[in-house]
Amino acid sequence: MSADLWKRQAAAKAIELVRPGMRLGLGTGSTAEKFVALLGERVAAGLDVVGVPTSERTAQQARALGIRLSTLDDTPYLDLTVDGADELDGRLNLIKGGGGALLREKIVATASERVVIIADVGKRVEALGAFPLPIEVVRFGLRATGNLIEMLAADAGCRGSMTLRTGRDGQPFVTDGGNYIFDCSFGRIDKVELLDEALKVIPGVVESGLFLGIADTAFVAGPTGVEEIAAESSERPAAD
Ligand code: A5P
Repeated sequence: MSADLWKRQAAAKAIELVRPGMRLGLGTGSTAEKFVALLGERVAAGLDVVGVPTSERTAQQARALGIRLSTLDDTPYLDLTVDGADELDGRLNLIKGGGGALLREKIVATASERVVIIADVGKRVEALGAFPLPIEVVRFGLRATGNLIEMLAADAGCRGSMTLRTGRDGQPFVTDGGNYIFDCSFGRIDKVELLDEALKVIPGVVESGLFLGIADTAFVAGPTGVEEIAAESSERPAAD
């Protein structure tokens, strides 16, 4: 079975949570795309929901499927957000932003009553960090911001190479918010909270792809079926 099929199975679980009248946050990425496709089918069959997309890419897909769209300005409280992840651990801490939509994804997720992550089993890790952590930064003072990230991350026990993300044209990748992204290959992030706090104090950092304590549930699909992981029943160690 392919990751693609597992993504679809996870998305199918999430679609079961959707009720008429819901205000939905629509994630970004190849897994979220499958959820939006299923939602489009339901909408075509008469389901009335409104969606707030986390990227221009998702907005385009949803619009093409006839899903009614809104913004957080008009719909500031959402019932449910369904999104993918690049990595998730047993506590439902995540790395997101592989697709570059981390800022809007975090804003939409935190405006939601419930956040459900859908993923194939390849995303499930014991410790975050093998996937390079995306950090969205403003363009001004890029080098100074990069130096500070390196320094404060090292204080939090994280060392590794940092790459400015580029697009297919070789030019810096620009997010929907007009910013750049550093991808930080830390290998393993043992103290996620410490790193998160460190990054928050750097003025040039807009957001990082660390999503801590944001997800409520995850549907992780693999060869043995779809596992549901709840944030409450996490493998949180006694002391961290
Ligand atoms: C987009 O910015 C990301 O956060 C995606 O949600 C994440 O990268 C998962 O993407 P895939 O479902 O394509 O792996």
